[in-house]
Amino acid sequence: MTIRVLHVASELYPLLKTGGLADVTGALPLALVERGADVRVLLPGFPPVVAGLADLKPVARLAHPFHAHASGDEAWLEQGTLEATGVTVYVIRAPSLFDRPGNPYMDDEHVPYGDNAPRFALLGWTAAQLAQRIDPLWAPQIVHAHDWHAGLAPAYLRAAERERGRALAKSVFTVHNLAYQGIFPAQSFYQLGLPHDFFTMHGAEFYGQLSFLKTGLFFSDRLTTVSPSYAREIQTLSQGCGLDGLLRQRTHELSGILNGVDYAVWNPATDTTIAARYTPSRLTKKRDCKTALQARLGLAQHGDALLFGVVSRLTEQKGLDLLLAAVPEIVRRGGQLAVLGTGDPALEAGLLRAAHAHPESVALERGFDEALAHSIISGSDVVAVPSRFEPCGLTQMYALAYGSLPLVHRVGGLADTVVDASLENLADDLATGFVFERFEPEAIAAAIRRAFALYARRTDWRTTQQRAMRQDFGWGASAERYMALYRELAG
Ligand code: ADP
Ligand code: GLC
Repeated sequence: MTIRVLHVASELYPLLKTGGLADVTGALPLALVERGADVRVLLPGFPPVVAGLADLKPVARLAHPFHAHASGDEAWLEQGTLEATGVTVYVIRAPSLFDRPGNPYMDDEHVPYGDNAPRFALLGWTAAQLAQRIDPLWAPQIVHAHDWHAGLAPAYLRAAERERGRALAKSVFTVHNLAYQGIFPAQSFYQLGLPHDFFTMHGAEFYGQLSFLKTGLFFSDRLTTVSPSYAREIQTLSQGCGLDGLLRQRTHELSGILNGVDYAVWNPATDTTIAARYTPSRLTKKRDCKTALQARLGLAQHGDALLFGVVSRLTEQKGLDLLLAAVPEIVRRGGQLAVLGTGDPALEAGLLRAAHAHPESVALERGFDEALAHSIISGSDVVAVPSRFEPCGLTQMYALAYGSLPLVHRVGGLADTVVDASLENLADDLATGFVFERFEPEAIAAAIRRAFALYARRTDWRTTQQRAMRQDFGWGASAERYMALYRELAG
């Protein structure tokens, strides 16, 4: 039996991406289709999404219950195709809510849009409409909602089922990051057309406010998150962001399914965006990538300098303040650091200061640049991901594929994907990177020293690179687990 699944999310690579969520929604649907599922995706009609879809055609008018007050606020549903994969995408056209340039969540001053509650409520509401056959030709059996943006989908679904007195679809809610919760003042809840009795402690309310994330966690049939370690961590007081109690209550309905790598996009043997292509057995070409990266960023052209790369949102989560404190140690040992990122102004300023202090050894490129991300992942010797917490993390898995050894904090998905180059792990052919236990300067400094020490042993370094490159973090195994979950739910 083919299972019909609707993925509901706010971004999707290659149409619109601010982080790893887009990589997941870009790759997972196809992996599910390859395993026999009938998968469609629902996205808000942000300008690049509308512009990037082929064969757009109207499906239905959306008479949603929370119209903005201005005129010209009508909304309708269209359907198009993602050319790269052939996946069908439903897109919500609501110009007054989505037709804004730039970041989908906030304005140019980094201030979240004041109407984010109705903007993303419309996403969840439309998902429930699809379960109610607003498209006469297709309706999902499973609504799979991602992160807080889609958090109201399971609640609208539950409300519709109550009203109609029958089951419509099952829901799965995936937490990509518990730290982003979509919290709004209580009064906004009453404008969203949900049953008022949903706004309680056992529902959408979170300490007197509306939480989109909690709503998703509470009303969905099953919960998943993006690594086994993070699934455990979020059930603890220290890492549960206030939701650990609810997550512990639902522990039997919660599973951690590791994200995968889309090797069609991240593969050094076929990557046309990098300076040279290479494989585990032909690693010498990787040096061309390093030389090109040093040239591009104005770093000294030292082939032997151990080059650390970072591709990251610059937020507290990512722990780059810890790496920044280790810059003098890296430079003193003859290493280099290349950072691509954008975000927190204080962090940007700190990295810029380091780059000015050591222009030949440290470079910061501010912005979001897909091609440069590939250049850094391929051209670096080490890719640093020292996150305070990390639900899964994709860049360390991309780094493995490119033979750029990840240096990571042992937390969340980082702990599940990288094995430290300790003597015993090297001896047992297990090592793939550098892992530090405690989030402290001494701990990261020791991991950095381990990286320099291994780099000095060229044969061991190459063997470790080859082992890293041969790890399989493709979507296969994880897609199978989602399929099993869907089958169980669909009965
Ligand atoms: P998160 O989703 O928390 O940002 P992930 O590691 O899961 O972390 O995914 C980050 C994704 O975003 C990766 O594909 C990474 O290459 C990409 N990325 C992050 N920052 C940038 C940037 N400044 N330019 C280009 N790509 C970036
Ligand atoms: C989030 C997390 C990241 C994860 C990504 C995709 O943005 O911060 O760890 O890899 O979602 O699931």
